[in-house]
Amino acid sequence: MSVVLETVCGGVRLRSPIMPASGTFSHEMENVLDLGQLSALVLKTTTYTSRRGNPVPRVTETSFGMLNSIGIPGGGIQHFVANELPKYRRSGAPIVASISADTAAQFGEMAAILSDEGLAAIELNISCPNIEADGQAFAMSREATARVVATARRATTLPLWAKLTPNTGEIVNIAKAAESAGADALVVANTILALAIDADSRRAELGNIMGGLSGPGVKPIILRMVYQCARKVSIPIIGCGGISSGRDVVEYLLAGATTVQVGTESFRDPTALVRIERELVEFCDGRGISSLRELIGGLMVQDAPAGAPDVDVAP
Ligand SMILES: Cc1cc2nc3c(=O)[nH]c(=O)nc-3n(C[C@H](O)[C@H](O)[C@H](O)COP(=O)(O)O)c2cc1C
Repeated sequence: MSVVLETVCGGVRLRSPIMPASGTFSHEMENVLDLGQLSALVLKTTTYTSRRGNPVPRVTETSFGMLNSIGIPGGGIQHFVANELPKYRRSGAPIVASISADTAAQFGEMAAILSDEGLAAIELNISCPNIEADGQAFAMSREATARVVATARRATTLPLWAKLTPNTGEIVNIAKAAESAGADALVVANTILALAIDADSRRAELGNIMGGLSGPGVKPIILRMVYQCARKVSIPIIGCGGISSGRDVVEYLLAGATTVQVGTESFRDPTALVRIERELVEFCDGRGISSLRELIGGLMVQDAPAGAPDVDVAP
């Protein structure tokens, strides 16, 4: 008997715990993947109004990953519903729409618009600037996080996944705020704010100067955040950061994630989602693991050393 992959995460039944990460997956991948075989289609973030995106270059490679400052270009929510969403429906896989907006009220309006579109869930990308306040990302502040999640919660009965930013110094408090405001699951996390400089030209490598770091280099940082959050919230955590193999998925499960999302690795290997799932099955079957529950939070059963700091406290 092979390990059972099917799971329920934040109100959504999934065929496997491995999903694509927002912005790193599109219907064009149907040339190399059977989209109907994916556990869920997590779509690129759509915004309230149309946006042109950031100046080019928008991506650059770093030693252990990539830096991007795409800036969420797109036609806005109405265009998304009319023109983008239909391209994904034919696969039959559960669809998770990712939304972002300038204000909490706009998040609520978008959630209401998407309510009757047959989605499995809505992912709230709250790693974008809060225009009403100081322009910092919503997920940098407990209050702004709670306001967006609560507003969306009132606007829809669909499951809500809140995607946090790793750029905050208080990820556990933000996670608790999202949970209290009604999030069904947390995605931990978006990219890490970073800078790449070309020493010869003395210019930033990205047109937007700074961008978000993703890929293998971020994995230990995001794993730590998943571990910290999993000990303090009861809703499921979707681990996302630097996953490129089945073993990486196992590490995230041990840290306390119940499911994961894979981003950058799909640019390197467009069939990564299928390969990583196969590697996870091989890992489990080779060790007689029949349920992923045997792995989830596995690290936490270890006794903490005497005097170890609480998870909220920096070492
Ligand atoms: C090119 C690119 C575009 C992205 N676009 C989005 C996006 O639209 N919305 C979002 O929530 N995250 C976006 N992300 C972040 C990913 O979903 C993911 O959180 C991050 O890349 C960490 O996972 P990874 O290391 O597996 O790539 C993007 C990442 C990359 C590399």
